[in-house]
Parts: sequence; C-alpha cells; structure tokens
Amino acid sequence: MNIDIVTIFPEYFAPLDLSLLGKARRGGLLDLAVHDLRSWAHDRHRTVDDTPYGGGPGMVMKPEPWGEALDAVVPSGTTARLIIPTPSGRPFTQTLAAEYAAEPRLVFACGRYEGIDSRVAEEAAARMPVDEVSLGDFVLAGGEVAVLVMVEAVARLLPGVLGNADSVSDDSFAPGAMESLLEGPVYTKPPLWRDRPVPEILLSGNHGAIARWRRDEALRRTARVRPELLARLDPERLDAHDREV
Ligand code: ADE
Repeated sequence: MNIDIVTIFPEYFAPLDLSLLGKARRGGLLDLAVHDLRSWAHDRHRTVDDTPYGGGPGMVMKPEPWGEALDAVVPSGTTARLIIPTPSGRPFTQTLAAEYAAEPRLVFACGRYEGIDSRVAEEAAARMPVDEVSLGDFVLAGGEVAVLVMVEAVARLLPGVLGNADSVSDDSFAPGAMESLLEGPVYTKPPLWRDRPVPEILLSGNHGAIARWRRDEALRRTARVRPELLARLDPERLDAHDREV
C-alpha cells in the first residue's frame, strides 16, 4: 500500500518509523512518504493561512498551496483516495479502516487552524474520491494526530503486518463472530498475582468453555460501557445463552 501525508509539521510523523509500522515500511509492505505543505508556498514567509472570509476567529488554510501539493502528489493520470481529517467529517470506524486497507493508495491532507479552504476538497473531488473524516466528537489542534491514528489502524490490517492473523479478527469492532462487541479482559502469567487469580476457566484447557466465557465477558463489558452497541446487534446472532448474560 502507498500512503502520502501532506502537513506543515512533517516532524509529527517520526513515530511512523517505530514498531509495527516501521517494520512494515522497512519490509516493503507500506510505502509511506511525508510532504511539507510549505514547499508549495512561494512567498518569502511560505504563508499557508489567511483570515476567514465572513469574519470570525482563527485562520483558514489557503487553497493555492494545497492545490499545488495535491497536483504534485497525485499527478493527472494517477488517482488516490484523499482523506481529510476534520471534526465535521463522517466518523472513522473499523469498517472504514478496513475499506482504506483495501485501497492501493491513500493521501492524507492535514488541516490546521480553522481548516482548509473548502474549495480544495471540492476541486479534488472532481478527480479523486475525497473523504472528510472525524475521529470523534472532540476537537484536536490539527489533523496530524488524527492521521497517525488512522494510518496505524489501517496499516495493522494489511496482510503480513501483524504476526498473528487471528489478532485482527478478535478485535473489538472486527467484523465476524464478535462483531460490535468490546473485547473482554485478558490475562497472562503468573496465575496468581497480588492475591488475584486468573479466572480458572482460562486454565481449564476446555476451548469451547473458554470461547463461551469470552463471549459472555464481551457481552457484559459491552452492556456496561457501550449499551448502544448491544442495541445495534443483530438479534439473529444472539443465542439463548447470550440473552441470559
Ligand atoms: N481535526 C481536529 N479535530 C479532529 C477530529 N476530532 N477528528 C479528525 N480530525 C480532527
């Protein structure tokens, strides 16, 4: 997969050299480039923002550097899915992460200040798919952290990036058996720590009983912290035991 990130703070993306993502990049599974928006700003101060038309607080990112940046990163005859993080976008979910992981090429445009002049997304949409995406109902100082989050969520779904393929399918929110349930508690050795034993069932070797216990715990945790997710579950997928939990 190919990922380009355009930002006025390229240094924000240093962590993408670390851990799983660094390994994926070195192993050729992920080709990721970070571009400084200011290299497409041509005045003496490399200005990328200006005051908003219509008044109001803060600054808006100018369209010209963004237009040139997108022309350079996605030249005519090529395409990519353009993702613009903004609190006014559609919600980023595991389903969207999986959709992005199936794309050959993603371009992330990091806005700062009050956002990017709206004509940029509009013009780009004439030649590539454009998504305005939000991480949640809160406001960050800019798109950079949101892009770090999305790149990590996408990259770990790429074939070969995680050691164990099962760890993706068991995730909270992963499509499949545990769809829309939060993962329950997890344990490792030692079996007794500060007077707290690991639940006995996990030491039983009874895989059927363990799977049942994990599903019960997932149902209980979901009911406790995200009851709205339970309400959205397909009743067809709940068995009699689920309903008792
Ligand atoms: N930029 C600022 N706030 C954001 C949010 N909540 N999600 C995505 N991008 C953002």
